Amino acid sequence: MEELKKIAGVTAAQYVKDGMIVGLGTGSTAYYFVEEIGRRVNEEGLQVIGVTTSSRTTEQAQGLGIPLKAVDDIDSIDVTVDGADEVDPDFNGIKGGGGALLMEKIVATPTKEYIWVVDESKIVDHLGAFKLPVEVVQYGAERIFREFEAKGYKPSFRETEQGRFITDMKNFIIDLDLGRIDNPVAFGKELKAMTGVVDHGLFNGMVDKVIVAGKAGVTILEK
Ligand code: 5RP
Repeated sequence: MEELKKIAGVTAAQYVKDGMIVGLGTGSTAYYFVEEIGRRVNEEGLQVIGVTTSSRTTEQAQGLGIPLKAVDDIDSIDVTVDGADEVDPDFNGIKGGGGALLMEKIVATPTKEYIWVVDESKIVDHLGAFKLPVEVVQYGAERIFREFEAKGYKPSFRETEQGRFITDMKNFIIDLDLGRIDNPVAFGKELKAMTGVVDHGLFNGMVDKVIVAGKAGVTILEK
């Protein structure tokens, strides 16, 4: 599995060219993409500016010497490469398994070419077997949790050994155990309309290319 993630990450790095502004994703697959960009910066003199999607990726990129800018300081991003937790045939997906969905969506939005890197286990017919992360502000989070419970969405607060997981943006994550999401677009809108919900892990139709590494080789799905 680790080898497949590495293949997907390194394959995606081929889309990065000199002079580009590059969105750097978060997670164990995007990690290999960032490593490869770092290698090219150091060994080949690749000139890029990175825009990161989490404090974890910022740390990694800084360690590799990749020059960085904040998303507020650029007009657009040429290409962003990130991981995903599930991808359906309509190019809808679930992200946020690593808790970085808000920064990831903020970086994806001004991106011209948005690419996901996944191993073949992430390709599904329907979204929802993976618990859907919802980022909520801390104030009033218990009320949102109870609302989710009442709607039958089987919520759970994301926890760490130290207590509740807190995102880079200082919010909580509530994971919804939905089983199957029949209409991701409508469901995304429903969640977004709830006061206190900052964003959710449904990335509907945002991705342009999905690089899938499988035992039989690499497949590139294009929208
Ligand atoms: C982090 C994410 C990740 O991109 C997603 O969880 C996939 O991670 P991995 O490649 O480790 O399976 O959305 O918030």
